[in-house]
Amino acid sequence: MQPFTALAHPNIAFIKYWGNRNDALRLPENGSISMNLEGLETRTTVHFDTSLRSDDVKIDGKKAGGIAHARVGRMLDEVRALAGIRHFAWVESENNFPTGTGIASSASAFAALALAATKAAGLDPFPCGDNGTSSGRPGVLPGGHNFDLATLSCLARRGSGSACRSIPGGFVEWAAGTGDADSYAVSIAPPEYWNLTDCIAMISTTHKLTGSTEGHKIAGTSPLQSGRLVDAPRRLGICRHAILNRDFAAIAEIMEEDSNLMHAVMMTSRPPLFYWQPATLAVMQAVRVARAKGLPVCYTIDAGPNVHVICTCAAAEETAKLLANIPGVRKVRLAKVGGPARLVENPSTYSH
Ligand code: DP6
Repeated sequence: MQPFTALAHPNIAFIKYWGNRNDALRLPENGSISMNLEGLETRTTVHFDTSLRSDDVKIDGKKAGGIAHARVGRMLDEVRALAGIRHFAWVESENNFPTGTGIASSASAFAALALAATKAAGLDPFPCGDNGTSSGRPGVLPGGHNFDLATLSCLARRGSGSACRSIPGGFVEWAAGTGDADSYAVSIAPPEYWNLTDCIAMISTTHKLTGSTEGHKIAGTSPLQSGRLVDAPRRLGICRHAILNRDFAAIAEIMEEDSNLMHAVMMTSRPPLFYWQPATLAVMQAVRVARAKGLPVCYTIDAGPNVHVICTCAAAEETAKLLANIPGVRKVRLAKVGGPARLVENPSTYSH
């Protein structure tokens, strides 16, 4: 069988996923909306090989064991079952950004793995080639089921919830769905639809203490989570509308409200989760002051201390300068709106 390499971008959620109604299948309590991040990427190569006695997984040049290996193995098991093959696989995955710091590396990782593994197993979510767009001729699974982009997004979701949003390109919505088959993400607008930039204020590059998977499990222990969930359709509606109308004032307000709500739930869970550092709050305050003075900027924060400062591309340079001058901000990384997960040439470094 042939090796295949896929590239996927991480994404930043404007309306967050926090809490599952089914942890094993990663069926979320609420829908979410995100933007893919261009320039940040995971590249993953998968090769199913008859000579192997177990799956061999390398992440950023290091052999993976424990939970990371088991999580990759579970996705490979699903792909083997879908394709009707039994071979083990070599998996080699590289990120061009630090993992575990509030840039969702699991999103791009499991999106790239889902695409590379299905292709390497002989399934074909993109039968037309390598540009990540479907030809409208989905691959056919043994048993006659279609294998299409929705199925690929569902597969990625079961690896890491937010990964389903890194399969389509641009601005993406993941519908909570009614079950496993209809909880997947679709593009609501292509990357070029709205020239936004994410200026990521990097405050720490060390691994976070409590990962999202553990966080989702305790979201329901916060008395605030039920209020957050009841109000989710309103926030989703405002966010979707703001994207489609390129309405920065509207997206700024709803994005910050949604991030604040999620962190309020995190801080009031049992045990409480505090992801912010003093510099996180300093950035939030500076962003609000700058917006009040007319700069089109707003913030959103994932499960880590770094702040994603979203602005128009025209305001990116000024925003990056402002952030770089805030004490505690180590670096500012810029990302425009990214495309879908796609197949790429096998890297020359690939070896096993
Ligand atoms: C705060 O997708 O990382 O970034 O499904 O356990 O892998 P797992 O969780 P994950 O959760 C993302 C949480 C978030 C918000 C978001 O991206 O929507």
